[in-house]
Amino acid sequence: MIPPVLHQGGRWHTLNLVPGQRVYRERLRRVQGQEYREWSVRRSKLAAYLERGGRQFHPRGDERILYLGAASGTTVSHVSDIVARGRVYAVEFSPRPFRDLLHMASQRPNVVPILSDASAPDAFAPYLLHRVPIVYQDIAQRNQAQIFGANAKRFLGQKGLGFLAVKARSINVARAPRETYELVRRDLKAQGLEVRETIELDPFERDHAMIVAQAA
Ligand SMILES: C[S@@+](CC[C@H](N)C(=O)[O-])C[C@H]1O[C@@H](n2cnc3c(N)ncnc32)[C@H](O)[C@@H]1O
Repeated sequence: MIPPVLHQGGRWHTLNLVPGQRVYRERLRRVQGQEYREWSVRRSKLAAYLERGGRQFHPRGDERILYLGAASGTTVSHVSDIVARGRVYAVEFSPRPFRDLLHMASQRPNVVPILSDASAPDAFAPYLLHRVPIVYQDIAQRNQAQIFGANAKRFLGQKGLGFLAVKARSINVARAPRETYELVRRDLKAQGLEVRETIELDPFERDHAMIVAQAA
């Protein structure tokens, strides 16, 4: 089987779903006849999570993933490579990056771009129809844990995994990041989620952690 994620030469790569096409001027490289896109640990918190030893993200390739905080689609494009036979529902509320996201999605049949606010899940629920096995969130908001909890409750299937990229300083600038991570974990547990992993993303993303939680 051709691996969708490749760690080679100290760098991460994903198998390009659209051979010949770059999304953000990343390097393309051929490995055993396949084209891979370099996946920068400095531009993607999911790549930084893998680099720092995160172990919970290993989709089969046919999953439907809800991605909150898509921006212009840098990480979404790599997730789209990874779940080549699945779908990425990419939610972004800011019109400027959404334009770039639309352009990227026009070349990737498994990306569904949704201009919507992640804190109002009812608004984009009609796109999803069924629950999903993975919810990924990367929004730098003060109430990011509550937004994540609301989406997990609404969309995450049984035993589904939620990946929350926590930006500690958006929640509280004065508090030590590790204390903030602990408060987020407590919040998630109070919302019925089981915390599986906390991976600090420094030095690639300062004062950020990926908290992985599982639905009951
Ligand atoms: C750090 S950037 C995301 C980067 C992106 N995940 C990546 O790795 O390529 C955060 C994005 O979340 C978006 N955002 C913040 N709050 C949001 C909300 N409530 N609903 C939807 N998008 C939101 C911002 O507009 C911004 O584009």
